[in-house]
Amino acid sequence: MALNAKPLIAQSILRERVAALAEEIARDYEGRVPLLLGVLKGALHLTSDLARAMPGPVEIGFIRARSYEGAESTGSVTVSGIDAIEIHGRHVLVVEDILDTGRTLNALAQQLQAQDPASLRVCTLLDKPSRRIAPFEAHYTGFTIPDQFVVGYGLDYNERYRELPEIYVYEP
Ligand code: IMP
Ligand code: MG
Repeated sequence: MALNAKPLIAQSILRERVAALAEEIARDYEGRVPLLLGVLKGALHLTSDLARAMPGPVEIGFIRARSYEGAESTGSVTVSGIDAIEIHGRHVLVVEDILDTGRTLNALAQQLQAQDPASLRVCTLLDKPSRRIAPFEAHYTGFTIPDQFVVGYGLDYNERYRELPEIYVYEP
């Protein structure tokens, strides 16, 4: 791990919170099979951990969204992979690593709504509400954090540190 990083959320805390989210989501979707739609690459661990912690059945899909260069939001969002997934009539639960300016999820929600899902909700592991530019609220949030750049558990700095099992504050 790089020098300028300090632990923010330990592995055991992450595990507990993900288990609680999974139970809440399973309760809300009882009698339906949600499509967990993970947003790559940041949500790779969360999507997998949520799916395995869910007491009920789920389906899993992945799409790709990109807005960041280094530690800066570029403002333009590229979404790919939606066309390969049947969204129409599905109970779609987007699984995202972090809600920051809100641009990514606004763009994504708009594109998904256009495919006419039966329902559309968003689960984000982290939320930095103080950074919001485009108003957006997730239905399920793991942790609300201050305006700090974080890495680990899927989150990267220039593609590094995604593999770390816990979350760190990173100062480039
Ligand atoms: P938004 O469009 O500004 O809400 O940005 C959301 C995306 O930016 C997330 O999916 C992340 O990929 C990335 N991002 C935002 N904040 C951080 C951070 O603190 N660390 C790593 N990636 C971040
Ligand atoms: Mg991301």
